[in-house]
Amino acid sequence: MSLLEIRNLQLEFGIGPTALRAVNGVSLTLAAGETLCLVGESGCGKSVTALSIARLVPSPPARYVGGEILLNGKDVLRMNKADLRGIRGGVVSYVFQEPSASLNPVFRVGHQIREALKLHRPDRARAEEVVRLLKLVGIPAPELRMRDYPHQLSGGMQQRVMIAMALASEPKLLVADEPTTALDVTIQAQILDLLRDLRTRLRMSILLITHNLGIVGDLADRVAVMYAGQIVELSPATDLLQRPLHPYTLALMNSVPKLGAGAQRLTAIPGNVPSLEAMPPGCRFHPRCARARPECAREVPGLIEVEPGRWVRCPFWTQPLPARQEALG
Ligand SMILES: Nc1ncnc2c1ncn2[C@@H]1O[C@H](COP(=O)(O)OP(=O)(O)O)[C@@H](O)[C@H]1O
Ligand SMILES: [Mg+2]
Repeated sequence: MSLLEIRNLQLEFGIGPTALRAVNGVSLTLAAGETLCLVGESGCGKSVTALSIARLVPSPPARYVGGEILLNGKDVLRMNKADLRGIRGGVVSYVFQEPSASLNPVFRVGHQIREALKLHRPDRARAEEVVRLLKLVGIPAPELRMRDYPHQLSGGMQQRVMIAMALASEPKLLVADEPTTALDVTIQAQILDLLRDLRTRLRMSILLITHNLGIVGDLADRVAVMYAGQIVELSPATDLLQRPLHPYTLALMNSVPKLGAGAQRLTAIPGNVPSLEAMPPGCRFHPRCARARPECAREVPGLIEVEPGRWVRCPFWTQPLPARQEALG
């Protein structure tokens, strides 16, 4: 059994004919110890999907209108409040983009970690445990740092504190939603190294959300590419990076700067993610697609398994795409 299985999730904002469907039939699984990256431009529904796992999208305005989210076999969408409290922190923990927005400026960081422990592991809410967690996330001189206020720490150190707080409950699944987006590039790499290290040491599952396909590299086991509320490609990470099958995946790859590749031209994806009010008919990506044909504007493509473990939402996936090198110029 998978730790997490999302089946055909549908989520809307608002009610009636003006309701906007932000998540439209997302299905994915996450095994114990596995790392899945959820990738896509801003506004594609990554955060809403991830927050749904612990039913954290406030309802209203959100409505979970269809599907199931099975965590250890139990459907989160049908849980009562007590069960939900049990999984929030107990099974799933979140790390978000802006550590400074999540930390309380008026308390020392050690105190905040201890409060997180009190909530989930009262038996362990001791100074030694705070030090252990700070060490685990690679903060030097933890006995000193735990007395710091958030503003005394750099952005990278603040994010490490947030990760320590998320780990206080010993989650089975860590959801990291753009955890490095607010950080500069070297610090970004360090935080990703830390996640990789924690995954091995703690055997956690990780759902890593990013708009940057460039950081997926050696962290992800599998990658799900999301576009306009749907998954358009889902594959083992190495396959996807070597040979993307969906035109959107390729476009995302071509828009990523590569470290050490020197000066190169990047190809921005033309156009924008459609707004929820104005979804194009047929394939949602067709107005921006290099491979679009007339029928793409009419026929809604399904997500099909084209090779074992490789899913693509494009019936023309065998057609050649503009080569990556060419696209890079
Ligand atoms: N509280 C909300 N009310 C209305 N629409 C929302 C709300 N939260 C998110 N959305 C919409 O849902 C879509 C997906 O958002 P989000 O999951 O944040 O995207 P991503 O994380 O991929 O950038 C967007 O169109 C966004 O505007
Ligand atoms: Mg987001």
